[in-house]
Amino acid sequence: MSDKRAVITGIEAYLPEYILTNDELSTMVDTSDEWIMSRVGIKERRILKEDGLGTSYMGEKAVKKLLEATGTRPEEVDLLICATVSPDMLFPATANIISDKVGILNAWGFDMNAGCCGFIYSFETVRRFVETGLYKKAVLVCGERLSCMTDYTDRKTCPLFGDASVALLIEPTEDMEMGFLDSMMHVDGVGRNYLYQRAGGSLYPPTEETLQERLHYIHQDGQTVFKYAVSRMADVSADMMEKHHLTADDIAYLIPHQANLRIIDATGRRMGLSPDKILIDIEKFGNTGGTSIPLAIWDFRDKFKKGDLLMFSAFGAGFTWGSILYRWAY
Ligand code: UT7
Repeated sequence: MSDKRAVITGIEAYLPEYILTNDELSTMVDTSDEWIMSRVGIKERRILKEDGLGTSYMGEKAVKKLLEATGTRPEEVDLLICATVSPDMLFPATANIISDKVGILNAWGFDMNAGCCGFIYSFETVRRFVETGLYKKAVLVCGERLSCMTDYTDRKTCPLFGDASVALLIEPTEDMEMGFLDSMMHVDGVGRNYLYQRAGGSLYPPTEETLQERLHYIHQDGQTVFKYAVSRMADVSADMMEKHHLTADDIAYLIPHQANLRIIDATGRRMGLSPDKILIDIEKFGNTGGTSIPLAIWDFRDKFKKGDLLMFSAFGAGFTWGSILYRWAY
């Protein structure tokens, strides 16, 4: 057992300026603000439009803001993990590219590919390093440019996704009441049949055919993913409460992955939470994949008080799902 906990000591975000509204989407495909708001809950999303900029561009911006806000010199950072399914390129890792751009010279790092569980999987990983005491200043950067793999001729997927990056500083504390308290993580490869980007890897390298068949875009069997997401995300959140003998009164806030308002509502109901305890900003940012939970943490950070018990719950491609129980430390 470790005698340290991992705590978030800083969080900063970068959001691209361009706002793609439901009204603009309605001029591109056969959809409407009414359908998107009632079935998903999204009003608008940010899009990194400029050519020649990838996920590392947003990650660099978020990490630079984080270092400045926390008074951290790049040389002090000893670990940098980047959670993304939209890396700049298949290799090298986007973590390496961001490290270079920011001047993080004394760290090692890697990318984490866990779909919309990018944050919870990578936070679970970072905390293991930090709790040993060997790593003292870890940067976790979550970033997605999902717009680059979204098919804007497919109304079933194009309203869903947005771009963003969030960087967190994670440090050890000896206060065992604070920070990362527990996690429950799951994976089930059955998900590979329902949510994927088929081509571009070693199985289907890019060819004229893969381009013509639009295999480089996100494909989702929405209804199947929805059914799994509703049950798995609610189950794991309830399991965490049961394990720690928690009631709804003990939880200050649930910060869920922001994929669909109906999935979030089902999780909140299962936990017995009143709506004011469920933090939701899907309306403004859409589904930013593994970045959505830290984006909501950043968005609502002024609400948190030291000692607030938070639950982070996510479900995503893979399938991956899980929950983290976290006590806000500042
Ligand atoms: O983040 C990682 C994990 N992902 C998720 O958790 C997403 C889970 N899935 C979902 O959130 C929902 O399944 C979606 C939001 C993707 C879709 O909502 P749905 O209620 O499951 O819609 P559906 O796919 O069953 O489609 C219902 C109808 C269809 O029309 P017909 O066949 O009944 O005539 C679709 O063609 O709605 C139609 N439709 C649309 N209509 C207007 C689908 N997309 C649109 C659209 N605008 N954008």
